[in-house]
Amino acid sequence: MGKKHFRMVDIIAKKRDGGALSNEEIKYFIDGCVAKTIPDYQISALLMAIYFRGMTDPELAEFTLAMAHSGDMVDLSSIEGIKVDKHSTGGVGDKFTMAIAPIVAACGVKMAKMSGRGLGHTGGTVDKLESIPGYRTSLDREAFLKQVNDIGVSVIGQSGNLAPADKILYALRDVTGSVPSIPLIASSIMSKKLAAGADCILLDVKCGSGAFMKNEADAITLAEKMVAIGEHNGRRTMAFVTNMDVPIGNNIGNALEVKEIVDVLNDRGPKGLTMGVVELSAALLTMAGKGTMDECIAMVKQHIADGSALKKLIEMARAQGAYTPVLEDNSKFPVAPICYELKSPTDGYIFAMDAEAIGNASTMLGAGRETKESAIDPTAGIVLFRKTGDKVKKGDVLANLYASKPELVEPAAERYLEALTFSQDQPPAIKLVYAVVDKDGVKKL
Ligand code: URA
Repeated sequence: MGKKHFRMVDIIAKKRDGGALSNEEIKYFIDGCVAKTIPDYQISALLMAIYFRGMTDPELAEFTLAMAHSGDMVDLSSIEGIKVDKHSTGGVGDKFTMAIAPIVAACGVKMAKMSGRGLGHTGGTVDKLESIPGYRTSLDREAFLKQVNDIGVSVIGQSGNLAPADKILYALRDVTGSVPSIPLIASSIMSKKLAAGADCILLDVKCGSGAFMKNEADAITLAEKMVAIGEHNGRRTMAFVTNMDVPIGNNIGNALEVKEIVDVLNDRGPKGLTMGVVELSAALLTMAGKGTMDECIAMVKQHIADGSALKKLIEMARAQGAYTPVLEDNSKFPVAPICYELKSPTDGYIFAMDAEAIGNASTMLGAGRETKESAIDPTAGIVLFRKTGDKVKKGDVLANLYASKPELVEPAAERYLEALTFSQDQPPAIKLVYAVVDKDGVKKL
């Protein structure tokens, strides 16, 4: 008897009928995707079958591992000490990585971080960092590892041949309606995290109107699946399930978000954003064995207060070719030529915000890509003055919209206003963190 032969049509039918794929069937599928021996229509059919039928935990672990091994597995062993990584499932105004990476490095924990570009209504750290003039987001592997060894941190774009199976599957999911599937999202994210090589992985699973997961139960399930995959593969993995019903911080848009992070690291950032930065940084430090959560929170606050976290951001940016006076004094960042004050059409409370629509308004101003080929305007975006729960009067400025072309403003302003629900009633207070998930289970907050 020779090697077992598989037919893609049998694999699709098995999943269509609710079966669990064997390790060999998974390997055949992933190998065939990368080798381009399986046509897109059969890949898409299996993805849709997975969307409807799901995957068992062992099946998902194997699927993720096969995706991780479809390309390079980054070897971080030349970097001394424990290496940490973090990942967000994607949000609006989500600028956490730009603060957390230098903070943990300033506290003595190394971060070799590969980040992504904007996707849909969500922004991407790589696009944000590139708004710092001169910042290079592509370093070769050797320079990347050397920088992390020398100064403790580097944030670059995804480089090399990292989880190529994910690129193929993601592109097909994007156009076949199978993006919001828990096993497909979990395997997509965790395959890249496993391939990126860190010892500890912190996941920020966003939940709400601006996230891919719109409700708490789904977000917690996604977090549990990803933690299980990480732990199963020997990585210490923890997830925070966090609110994404309201944009994070006050600034949305690339340079605007870097400016806001400089404020956070100067200890004058918005309260909610600063709290999130402190908690997530401290969680990474505890995972790296730096102390209890309370001790690590104190350590993070001290490194913000004494300026060493901001110094580390500047050091990282300088090492990657950036012009850093804009970080030393963030009023030096280039500003968009058009600033439109968006005024409230009514009196009342802002009862709710559709964060996805607000992310889209920012994209429409030029902060994101309308097509794969679009260039980003680093100065475009939105500064929010009023958010959910705030009381407003007709004519109060709700937000400033920044753009470089006048024709972009009106449609974005319309989209922004449509995203707001006003009410005479004050909405309930917003919870920032819904749950923390680790190998011991789910802790609801
Ligand atoms: N981010 C990813 O990398 N993959 C997904 O499927 C969703 C968000």
